[in-house]
Amino acid sequence: VTRSLAWLLPMHEYKNIVYPYFITRENLEAMPNFQMRDDDIVIASYPKTGTNWVLEIITKILQAAGKSEATSEERAFAKLEFHHPELPQTTHLMLEDSPSPRVILTHLCPDLAPPGIANPEGNVKVIVVMRNPKDAAVSNYHFGLNIMRNYFYFGHILAYFLTWDRFCNVFLSGEAVFGNFYNHVLSWWQKRHDPHFLFLKYEDMQKNLTDAVKTVAEFLEMDLDDATVKHIAKDCTFHNMKKVFENSDFKHRTFMARKGMVGDWTNYFSPEQSQAFDAMYREKLEGTGLEFEFE
Ligand code: A3P
Repeated sequence: VTRSLAWLLPMHEYKNIVYPYFITRENLEAMPNFQMRDDDIVIASYPKTGTNWVLEIITKILQAAGKSEATSEERAFAKLEFHHPELPQTTHLMLEDSPSPRVILTHLCPDLAPPGIANPEGNVKVIVVMRNPKDAAVSNYHFGLNIMRNYFYFGHILAYFLTWDRFCNVFLSGEAVFGNFYNHVLSWWQKRHDPHFLFLKYEDMQKNLTDAVKTVAEFLEMDLDDATVKHIAKDCTFHNMKKVFENSDFKHRTFMARKGMVGDWTNYFSPEQSQAFDAMYREKLEGTGLEFEFE
């Protein structure tokens, strides 16, 4: 299949979804055999919807509860299906040797994720993070530009060709990397009645971060007092996390904190693009019980 952006970046297709080259076929094929541990915590998300924000919150909760001293910087490698160019080894093998409790990040849909994540057993906990598709698209666009500029020879020239209009069309067509946004969120949304799952929305976290931290701590069965919860929320504001990201040893984390707001899409979308998004939003989500706030 010729995808509209395939000429810009090395990508490949696996089971009808386009992946960047650092999610190898070998890794995707290894997913059914990935062994979960009973105290694993998983963050499942479409890219650029707040994954690292939730990682920071979980990391701080585990530290405060005395369960782990690992920092988010140390945990940032743990994107399950990745073989990141900055890492010596493929991630799922590194995770096999990682101390518990592990926090495993994945951008896969349940049908490609390990069975122990799609249908968790025992004490495994899965936090699904979601964000409105317009802001997610803008964030993905900028991340794509940064990946090109930072990881490719002549990346600035490649980035010149990745205009917002071009990217917006690809996102709407459902051919963006990691697949169609709606298929992704709806595939996880089907799990909402399973007590192994917690659903968080980026917009709710923006509105009340203390509540979000409390919800996550309770879901993880970590008993934290109110002062600690507040303290963690303060540490996890965009302003504070920006410093964590910018000081990272991982290049891709240094451009992780961009704007961190709800509604930045209004600076990018034309009225026509916004209407096209709204039409698809209604078509895909009507009657599903899933909805997003855009401002
Ligand atoms: P923007 O590009 O819109 O700024 P992910 O971690 O899934 O890759 O998501 C990255 C997005 O989450 C970026 O969005 C980033 O700025 C935002 N983000 C990260 N930490 C945040 C925080 N503490 N508060 C708000 N947004 C945050």
